[in-house]
Amino acid sequence: MSSNHNHNESPALTAIQQAAAVLIEEYVNANPKSAEAFKDAKASGIAGGTNRASIFYNPFPLTFVNASEATAVTADGQQITDFLGNYTAGLFGFSPDPVKLAVIKAMENGHALGGAPNLTEARVAKQFTKRFPSMDMVRFSNTGTEANSYAIHTARAVTGKNKVMMYDGAYHGAWIHGGKAAGPLDTPYEKITVPYGDADLIARAIAKNAVDLAALIIEPVSISPMVYLKKASPPAYLQKLRETCDAAGCALIFDEVMTSRLAPGGAQALLGITPDLTTFGKYYGGGLPFGGFGGKRKWMERHDPAHPKSINSGGTFNQNAICLAAVEAVFENLWSEEQCTNHNAKAERFKRAINELAIKHDAPCRAYGTGSLLTIIWQKQVVTEEHYADNQTKHELNLVAKMCVFKCAELFWFYMLQRHNILAGSPKLNYLTLPTTLKDSDYDHFLKAMAKFFEAHKTELAMLSAETKAGLEKTPEEVELIAMSTTPYDENGQGSVVH
Ligand SMILES: Cc1ncc(COP(=O)(O)O)c(C=O)c1O
Repeated sequence: MSSNHNHNESPALTAIQQAAAVLIEEYVNANPKSAEAFKDAKASGIAGGTNRASIFYNPFPLTFVNASEATAVTADGQQITDFLGNYTAGLFGFSPDPVKLAVIKAMENGHALGGAPNLTEARVAKQFTKRFPSMDMVRFSNTGTEANSYAIHTARAVTGKNKVMMYDGAYHGAWIHGGKAAGPLDTPYEKITVPYGDADLIARAIAKNAVDLAALIIEPVSISPMVYLKKASPPAYLQKLRETCDAAGCALIFDEVMTSRLAPGGAQALLGITPDLTTFGKYYGGGLPFGGFGGKRKWMERHDPAHPKSINSGGTFNQNAICLAAVEAVFENLWSEEQCTNHNAKAERFKRAINELAIKHDAPCRAYGTGSLLTIIWQKQVVTEEHYADNQTKHELNLVAKMCVFKCAELFWFYMLQRHNILAGSPKLNYLTLPTTLKDSDYDHFLKAMAKFFEAHKTELAMLSAETKAGLEKTPEEVELIAMSTTPYDENGQGSVVH
């Protein structure tokens, strides 16, 4: 591949962009009220028109006005079936009844019962320590970002060390990014970033930095869109990281904010690897803000205000009775071990059905992921380990793959919305974090709509297939899509350290 390869050389990409432009124009015409709402939000003074960067997309995001179960209604009156699931936070659909009732009861019982302990927090804590054997003790927060911040601070306090290691491209919250993704808001401690996937390299990096390394924080299933495999890391890989952290005296933190939904005891149970600290959030609040973290006494006891070296871990709303009532309702009604296992098994069947359909239509896409966390990846070029001749080639393949991944995702998203009233992730990525409220008929509807997409955009997809023929001769199992991060790791951490 020439070093100045550029995506404009791809006729497939041009055709996909043209097809998407037609649907985007339709979208603009069909959604004047959402357009207006976004304009108003900007005019009202919300910087950028949204309080949550991830929900913005071009030309403007849809505004929802009401919703129930798996159906949302837009400002322009379209009813859409939700396969996005609020980027994992909407696991139980919109305003699930048990949560609604629990919240009303908590409100009637005296709002947050502020300024004193309440009875709900201990009951919720017991649910977590029962489900997660790696945790003797927990602490709650309001978001996943806070949970990860607390866990990292805990590791730094207990080890007395400073640095934190994570994957390049990782997302652990609004101010905890790995590598190039880090911005001016990021936490000030020194970060060392490593690429996902090479246990030997990471083990060497841990050993080399052991003297001042407080923690390695990772998701046990790589899930960030920047590392879009969403695939369970192999247990042997995680085990090697586990052992290396032990030898280096640093904490292994599993960020299970998203992945805990994959098994009753989280991804750690699914994969059989025990972290020192675990963090969670998102869906546990059934739609309300919630986060938490926990581990064994050795790591957590310093949160005891009576401990001689207590970490002063405040947080006005960390034990508010309303969100905790919602979490309790989730455990009691919506997320038993059986409900969790069945939902993930159903999602695995859905993934297989998507892939069978794609194979049948010779379509250049596959659903990747684990359990109820799926992404449909549109591949111009299936990138495998053997393509890594050198970093330059790797970088070029990344850029080429990235363009098609995103442009085809956009085409698919607008098609599914416009033609079939389906929310297939976001136009930036067909990220399907499946809610439990989806019915069998919704899954059938999705598959039928997808088959129609393959027919409607046969020409563009055939062009894409032709351009990816070599790669597509591999089976999905052989295919290792690369992480999009391209920063080569240098063992001294040079060039990859973020302050
Ligand atoms: C893996 C992971 N960790 C942490 C967070 C942060 O959670 P919150 O948005 O609740 O702060 C997210 C949010 O997307 C996440 O995906």
